[in-house]
Amino acid sequence: MIDKKALDIALENNSLILVQKCLHARNLHLYRHSILTAEIAWDIVVGSNKDFGFSATQAYMAGMLHDVGKLFVQDRILDKRHPLTEREWEVMENHPAWGHDYVQGTIFEPYGDVILHHHKLPDGSGYPKGLAAELLDDRVRLIAAADKIAAFIEDRPYRRRISHQALINREVRAVAELYFDGEKKEAIIDTVNGAITVERWTSLCKEQTGVCR
Ligand SMILES: [Fe+2]
Ligand SMILES: [Fe+2]
Repeated sequence: MIDKKALDIALENNSLILVQKCLHARNLHLYRHSILTAEIAWDIVVGSNKDFGFSATQAYMAGMLHDVGKLFVQDRILDKRHPLTEREWEVMENHPAWGHDYVQGTIFEPYGDVILHHHKLPDGSGYPKGLAAELLDDRVRLIAAADKIAAFIEDRPYRRRISHQALINREVRAVAELYFDGEKKEAIIDTVNGAITVERWTSLCKEQTGVCR
């Protein structure tokens, strides 16, 4: 007899490989950013031993999927080395909604809200505009934090990654404080700084120009 839960996980993981291949085929930097975000989210769940509403596997999948809407954003925007124009930002800011729609009707549909909200900030700013900040549960906040941490430790089209340890520590604290308080905030700071100290994600941070806006 097939274990339903094991089957679900196997299906999810095989499908996730297809998503990874799509990201890789579409844009190398998008692929590497997605893996880095997934690894950070995984490590926060495992390393912090706190309940973020996600298992480590779910956090990894959400991290891998968070920017899947960028499959529909042109390379000239993704890889642009200069500030985006107003029109280009309008296109870029559609990627959470496009990603949300992309996973509807698939086994990844339960991640749709995380994909839709990952650029929304607790003060109600960010995008998509008009969404209530109260929609940001711990799952969304975890992936949003992992996304932001990935963004400053990887190279971007328009700037090099942050490599000075004191600056990294300051940024990690700022991101953790943006989304969490108390024990979860401190657990994220300790876990992420620990991983950076041992260069756990170094190979994912190097030789890329990044695409996360
Ligand atoms: Fe994004
Ligand atoms: Fe991202």
